[in-house]
Amino acid sequence: MSIASKPAGVEFRNVSRRYGNTAAVDDVSFAIESGTLVTLLGPSGCGKTTTLRMIAGLEMASSGTILIGGKDVTRLPATDRNVTMVFQSYALFPHMTVADNVAYGLVVSGMRKRDAAAKAAEGLELVGLGGYGQRLPSELSGGQQQRVAVARALVLEPEVLLFDEPLSNLDAKLRRKMRDDIRELQQKLGLTSVYVTHDQEEALAVSDRIIVMNRSVIAQTGTPDELYRRPKNRFVADFIGGANLIDGELVGCSGGMATVALGRLTLSVPDPGLPTGEVLLAVRPNAIRLRAGESGGAGGGDGIPVTVRKATYLGSHMEYGLTSEFGDLFVVDPNVANPVPAGASALATFTGDGIAAVAR
Ligand SMILES: Nc1ncnc2c1ncn2[C@@H]1O[C@H](COP(=O)(O)OP(=O)(O)OP(=O)(O)O)[C@@H](O)[C@H]1O
Ligand SMILES: [Mg+2]
Repeated sequence: MSIASKPAGVEFRNVSRRYGNTAAVDDVSFAIESGTLVTLLGPSGCGKTTTLRMIAGLEMASSGTILIGGKDVTRLPATDRNVTMVFQSYALFPHMTVADNVAYGLVVSGMRKRDAAAKAAEGLELVGLGGYGQRLPSELSGGQQQRVAVARALVLEPEVLLFDEPLSNLDAKLRRKMRDDIRELQQKLGLTSVYVTHDQEEALAVSDRIIVMNRSVIAQTGTPDELYRRPKNRFVADFIGGANLIDGELVGCSGGMATVALGRLTLSVPDPGLPTGEVLLAVRPNAIRLRAGESGGAGGGDGIPVTVRKATYLGSHMEYGLTSEFGDLFVVDPNVANPVPAGASALATFTGDGIAAVAR
């Protein structure tokens, strides 16, 4: 007996879920490739959980088509879909041993007790909890309980494994470890996984692709790198990586690059596919460098004059709050050896990498 993976792709075609007059999910289409981990990322209330529950069949689409493994499952109830969900609350039975918790779904679906127990033991081994089978959930730490919940889902060999904010009850350090473990297991077993989070760093860390949602619709879909470097709109630029948003002007494009004017400065950024004219520049906090002691003034050269409003030492880097002619700027600078103190005048220069133009 061994835990096999039977991954299937997932497709939404113009799927909506309405409650009365409001749509929790509004005309959403996407395709998740078999064997990949895709994250649904977005702020509270944007429709992530509703989307996940529609994949599971715990929520029915009001309109549109849902396919799993190429098969139309739109009207199939949860019990007829081979999909399992790992909940934020773990939802373990407190009076059952860890082993019985993991075996429960198998026994209910008709597997012989002995076979179910063997498979549960294997599931626990996979998540690093071999030997914990006879404990009660209350005798485990939060992170260990989360692993039990993952093992319980894995032994069912689902076509799609769903995670709804699985790490939000854990402290920051454990969250990082658990997200790496989940990603490793997903890749090792080749599972199709859909992972809900509102934490952009978590999404960047674990995903093959990210579906960014905002107000019931998809704001952008892409790889972590695409979303970070080529945001398509203001929402994505701001939500992922917290860009500074500055008014600029698109002057022209050639060879995949665009020339933008920022006050007196001219910068080269990836071609956003927008017409010339007013644009918004999304400037990453690490795309701005500070040069101390230069007040700029008339002869700013390749930078703009700024005043340092706030300087915070964080060991590996400095964080600055700047006041400039373009408004307040937030900067992350790796130069901790020669920090610029608060109150000082300085020159801010822009590195081409880390700046994207989006529609204003
Ligand atoms: N059963 C329901 N009846 C009415 N409205 C609902 C119902 N379930 C969800 N909604 C609404 O649909 C919207 C999307 O909810 P959903 O739970 O999918 O958001 P979410 O992105 O998972 O948010 P969070 O990050 O807070 O968990 C919300 O505005 C919510 O109030
Ligand atoms: Mg939710």
